Amino acid sequence: MMLQIKAQLAENILGGILSIAPECGMDADGVLALMEYPPDAAMGDIAIPCFKLAKTLRRSPVQIADTLAPLVKGDAIDRAEAVNGYLNIYLSDAYLANAVIPEILEKKEQYGAPDMGHGKTVVLDYSSPNVAKPFHIGHLGTTVIGHSLKRLHEFAGYKCAGINYLGDWGTQFGKLIVAYNLWGDRATIEAGGVDELVKLYVKINNAISGNEAEGIAPNAELADQARAEFRKMEEGDPDNIALWKWFVQISLDEYQKTYKQLDITFDSYKGESFYTDKMPAQVQKLRDMGLMKIDDGASIVDLEEYGMPPCLILKRDGSTLYPTRDIAAAVYRKGEYNFDKCIYVTSNQQILHFQQWFKVVELMGYEWHKGLVHIPYGTVSINGAKLATRTGNVVLLKDLFAAAIEKVTEIMEEKNPALKGRADIAEAVGVGAIVFYYLSNNRIKDINFNMDDALSFDGNTGPYVQYTYARACSILEKAAAGDGYTVPSTITVTDPLEKDLCKVLSQYEERVRLALRDYEPSVITRYILDVATTFNRFYHDCAIFSAEDPAVKATRLALTEATKHVLGSAFGLICLRKTEKI
Ligand code: ARG
Repeated sequence: MMLQIKAQLAENILGGILSIAPECGMDADGVLALMEYPPDAAMGDIAIPCFKLAKTLRRSPVQIADTLAPLVKGDAIDRAEAVNGYLNIYLSDAYLANAVIPEILEKKEQYGAPDMGHGKTVVLDYSSPNVAKPFHIGHLGTTVIGHSLKRLHEFAGYKCAGINYLGDWGTQFGKLIVAYNLWGDRATIEAGGVDELVKLYVKINNAISGNEAEGIAPNAELADQARAEFRKMEEGDPDNIALWKWFVQISLDEYQKTYKQLDITFDSYKGESFYTDKMPAQVQKLRDMGLMKIDDGASIVDLEEYGMPPCLILKRDGSTLYPTRDIAAAVYRKGEYNFDKCIYVTSNQQILHFQQWFKVVELMGYEWHKGLVHIPYGTVSINGAKLATRTGNVVLLKDLFAAAIEKVTEIMEEKNPALKGRADIAEAVGVGAIVFYYLSNNRIKDINFNMDDALSFDGNTGPYVQYTYARACSILEKAAAGDGYTVPSTITVTDPLEKDLCKVLSQYEERVRLALRDYEPSVITRYILDVATTFNRFYHDCAIFSAEDPAVKATRLALTEATKHVLGSAFGLICLRKTEKI
């Protein structure tokens, strides 16, 4: 809603600008880009820093503001003031409230959806753990950023396909097969799941590389055996293929538990192995186009001209590599989905990998290379939370979630001992706390996890915003149980805190667009905090049930309901579950 108000305002102000300087070449978008939200409502609801116009208009900022102020008019406008070269615009409370609140109550959680993806398809490649290796906190980023980007695109009307490009092929399986044949036991693995596989994997890696401290020498023979087993697997050896399938299934079963806690589903689990028979055609094309060079026996695409190291396509023994599979997978996906964009979410350690193979795809003449997008994120570390695992020095995602859930359960037992369905709520809040904390920062920043901060009920946290959502729900429930309430035909704003709430709710679509533009879920996380904080201030100061004027009471209930819808919708965009009660 704010977007429409701003667009109208921009036209209006443009008129003013052109009346002073008809030749200045300004347009409405240019004016729109100048608009700011002042940090303090005393400085208006929207402001234009006129020093940014000084050069174009060849006037001082003070002159510009003074000239424009009396020209700002419109239904949405209460008044405009020129203050020290700023044009401060105050919106009409009544206009704003009546433009925003009824629309939210009508559209509910669809309110704020930008209509920009209609008829377009986006493929998102995210989470994609490497089978039989630990699913650790490093994967939290790709999993929740990836899924949030999917939700955001869906919200904007894009048709989306979420792909879990499992790392289900590679030499690690050779190692695992050797380890299993040496030390494994079917029943133990069946009972213990992926943890047992990881144990075997850690054990064989230690045996291969040796451990100086423990006086274990490196064992090259085991490494050779592992390579041989993998080669057999590539050649289709039925025993090895059966083992491989079993390992993949066990790993998948485990990942599903974590995805379920996050309420995440995928449209496809086609992993790296799926592309085995799709690579030769692309390799041949590279060869035919003369793009490939032999370098020390390996086949590469030289990218020196583009300031990058070569992209490796085939090893000396002819086996394929990570980029080879990515190229084949992209070609396949273009055929399968005809995507407009294909988004890959991985840690920033893979930036070069994506730059390289995106370039190779471009050199191969695939026009759609322009739709390939890599979204990197920073590294995650943990301190403060003592989460040593059985598997050595990595922290598993499920252990992190389990610790959070346990802690939340303790807090809830204290705060609300009578709560029904506590286990489920504790899971939503515990997992939500981790997700929210993680998505509070710009994705590219490295983050250091602090469990106490993440789980606090009164900081800028997941529990805090989920608690706010629950508060809105319980107010509405109480209203329904009492006299009920009907949405008033006019929303009557009597308190500045009500206006603040209308204002923040009116900005939802703008934030969603920003999040999409920058592929940045943290924009939504911060928006949720803005809404929660504004609502809590309103709730604290504006009596709802004891309001004497029925119109005021009805307005406040309508504001509460609108807040509930916007929070609920925004929660969905960042994989945070809605909690009606806490
Ligand atoms: N399995 C990879 C890893 O864990 C991530 C895959 C990312 N997606 C891709 N198409 N390369 O590092």
